Amino acid sequence: MSKQYIQAIQDPIFELIAKASLNLGIRSYVIGGFVRDYLLHRNVPKDIDIVAQGSGINLAKEVANLIPGHTKISVFKTFGTAMIRHQELEVEFVGARRESYSSDSRKPLVEDGSLEDDQNRRDFTINALAISLNQDDYGKLLDPFDGISDLQNQLIRTPLDPDITYSDDPLRMMRAIRFASQLNFKIEEESFQAIKRNVHRIEIISNERIVDELHKIILSEKPSQGLKLLFQTGLLSKILPELTNLQGIEEKEGQTHKDNFWHTLEVVDNIAKNTDDLWLRWAALLHDIGKAPTKRFDKKIGWTFHSHEFVGAKMVYAIFKRLRMPLNDKMKYVQKLVMMSSRPIVLAQDIVTDSAVRRLIFDAGDYIEDLMTLCEADITTKNPRRFKKYSNNFKIVRQKISEVEQRDHIRNFQPPISGEQIMETFNIKPSREIGLIKEAIKEAILEGEIPNQYDEAYEFMLKRGKKLGLTPVNNKK
Ligand code: CTP
Repeated sequence: MSKQYIQAIQDPIFELIAKASLNLGIRSYVIGGFVRDYLLHRNVPKDIDIVAQGSGINLAKEVANLIPGHTKISVFKTFGTAMIRHQELEVEFVGARRESYSSDSRKPLVEDGSLEDDQNRRDFTINALAISLNQDDYGKLLDPFDGISDLQNQLIRTPLDPDITYSDDPLRMMRAIRFASQLNFKIEEESFQAIKRNVHRIEIISNERIVDELHKIILSEKPSQGLKLLFQTGLLSKILPELTNLQGIEEKEGQTHKDNFWHTLEVVDNIAKNTDDLWLRWAALLHDIGKAPTKRFDKKIGWTFHSHEFVGAKMVYAIFKRLRMPLNDKMKYVQKLVMMSSRPIVLAQDIVTDSAVRRLIFDAGDYIEDLMTLCEADITTKNPRRFKKYSNNFKIVRQKISEVEQRDHIRNFQPPISGEQIMETFNIKPSREIGLIKEAIKEAILEGEIPNQYDEAYEFMLKRGKKLGLTPVNNKK
């Protein structure tokens, strides 16, 4: 028996499970993600799946009995599973089963079965690897589908005919792509073709589950790997048609535009090098989403995507709503970044002035750093001269942001003069003039005519009031 597998089950919890199984006279195995990730030298997961040839619930109860003190156990009777939390671990117990599926549901018909039956019903060979927790062969690897070779060859393969595996549970199409993206694996050709054939079955899967997988793809080291597979299999046009609509290059009168789909994938890969923030990566994925519906050809200026940022921000809401993603501050954050995604590049094309930077900080507020990260990722030009120019200009923008911010405190701008002060100074009631003066003060600060300070703003208010025919009655400077 290989020492390697014994090594995988060093945590004392496994001995307890082995003892509990012995007490009950049933056989048990650790299976799935724990074994896979251990063998891949990834961080060993804190959730462990145990399969028992017998009642998983009884085994969980027996394990809980063996742990001194009070151990929390959750029983899910309808699923025949139970979970215990022990220290940092979450251990899930299930009885080995055979499953058969009907075509209109993800919910299978379940019967008791052997370990092999249970391994058969699993999604991929690399997830069907099990290690014995039984006295007679403790630590033995049970690998009926040669998942070990697939781990070595970095291959996603189903234990059964892939058409059956995917049709039984169409979420597995997303999982296949997610694992390929996370682990940098290839999907076996037959499996890939089966996904293509079964794409329509994704319709029976809830949006929440789809999005869960999508998040994991987006969070992988090189998200384009998964996104590309989603596109090639046809899943992406089912899940995010707004994105696949960006694909393609049109030519009119000899003028073309870039393929905004492939460009987007590059941007997502670029940003993935600089941030692990899921929502910032989402913003990168959706930053050009408004370009498909706004695309026009103008004989004089060529291809335009007028107001695509604005349209895109609206689409973000529709996408989040449809996919049942949170419609909270995360959505607003993505919307804002999409809305502002062209601002820094416009800046960087020109000479970067302080006032333009102040306006950018004013509008972006606390999102300014993230916006810069997005825009830097957006430079995908293959022209080295242009690449250098934009990167340098962004460096200047970043430097100016920190200088201007230190001096002018524009981020989360609070007007130095309040509406009340204006009313008191000129002895006027709430009126249009107050708004005009406030706006003028803000503009003067952003334009750099006056610093963001009380005294200067006060003087400015007096002058501005005078222009509007107002006389100060209360000079409280
Ligand atoms: N499984 C399956 N089909 C699914 C989901 C899960 O066959 N649609 C099986 C696989 O054997 C998997 C195990 O159940 O390894 C546990 O599933 P889960 O915890 O969702 O995934 P992990 O493989 O543990 O991976 P991760 O934690 O990265 O999601």
